[in-house]
Amino acid sequence: MASWITICDTCKREGWELTGMEQTDGERLAALIEAAAEGEADVRTRRVSCTMGCERACNVIVQAQGKVGYSLGRFEPDADAALAIVAYARMHAQSETGPVPFREWPPGVKGHFVSRHLPVPAEQ
Ligand code: FES
Repeated sequence: MASWITICDTCKREGWELTGMEQTDGERLAALIEAAAEGEADVRTRRVSCTMGCERACNVIVQAQGKVGYSLGRFEPDADAALAIVAYARMHAQSETGPVPFREWPPGVKGHFVSRHLPVPAEQ
């Protein structure tokens, strides 16, 4: 089952207004994640505008049907962050229930976890 990376494309990091403002930081990170996920069989991406973590820009959410999902934030909009996020999403896809052992986390996601989201119970 594929895991999805939801990317906030309206995130702006501190000092963004000094960068020329042609793109938001979230748009830059989204484009880098989309490129890094190209060809990944088990990773999908989508953009949304604001995940309500604005003060922790840039933000993404990694989730899949029936699995524990995670919010991550405080990313720079750069290629290293994008590669780490996609690598982590691939591991999340390979995990039966979502959690990935800490020792296997790509270094680029360490320190970026914000919250954990438990799947809702199956209908009975
Ligand atoms: S603008 Fe990205 S979380 Fe609000």
